[in-house]
Amino acid sequence: MGPDPAGGGGGGTGGGGDGGGAGDDRLYFRQLLAGVDFARSDPVARQMVNFVYAIGDRATGEVLLVDPAYAVDELIDLVAADGMTVAGVLATHYHPDHVGGDMMGWQIEGITRLLERVQVPVHVQADEVPWVERTTSVGSGDLVAHASGDIVQVGAVPVTLVHTPGHTPGSQCFLVEGRLVSGDTLFLDGCGRTDLPGSDPMAMYESLTKRLASIPDETVLFPGHRYAEDPSEPLGRTRSRNYVFRLATPEQWMAMFGS
Ligand SMILES: [Fe+2]
Repeated sequence: MGPDPAGGGGGGTGGGGDGGGAGDDRLYFRQLLAGVDFARSDPVARQMVNFVYAIGDRATGEVLLVDPAYAVDELIDLVAADGMTVAGVLATHYHPDHVGGDMMGWQIEGITRLLERVQVPVHVQADEVPWVERTTSVGSGDLVAHASGDIVQVGAVPVTLVHTPGHTPGSQCFLVEGRLVSGDTLFLDGCGRTDLPGSDPMAMYESLTKRLASIPDETVLFPGHRYAEDPSEPLGRTRSRNYVFRLATPEQWMAMFGS
């Protein structure tokens, strides 16, 4: 697990690299906890405990930011201190704590600010485009709409997009070299809410039990919030102890998550 720079309190390391792709010597991967590793003076960031991820290629110095929010300039500066330049954004979903926007009267900085600093593509799942436009006022010309299975390349590092609707229509997870960056689809404990605008509890059930089912247990889960003590863990451990995987039938699932 050597390649990750020492992250702050959020635990900057994450192993699970099991070969493939560009190899761990090239992969740049940082997990940054809002309110701790950046945006320390922002009470909303400290409350929301979002994770931002930086995924890049050390050889080319390019990096993608996953869900940059709260203190975008700090994030750009953090990766710049490692010699990395932001080449794009991966958005897991439209919620303002992930892409910026108004959240219950709080203005959260996000991709709008980022695009003022750097002109880079913002990669979103196709179904999420209108939602991201409404939340952030970023125009569709700045968004790249993707289908599930698309690969976004950062240098020589391929990132595979997996559409996992349920929390929102176009929620997506990112697979990179033995890591699954899951946004609000799956946490170490529990999963994202399914009672919000655009949520679909049955779609969430399908995403967790079918769309993510083929991802190996040794893949390391990196969630969108720090709702558990550990910042990450092997997916097999999550599958064995997270209650969302104990609801065996759609009927049991809907009894708990259906509104
Ligand atoms: Fe969310």
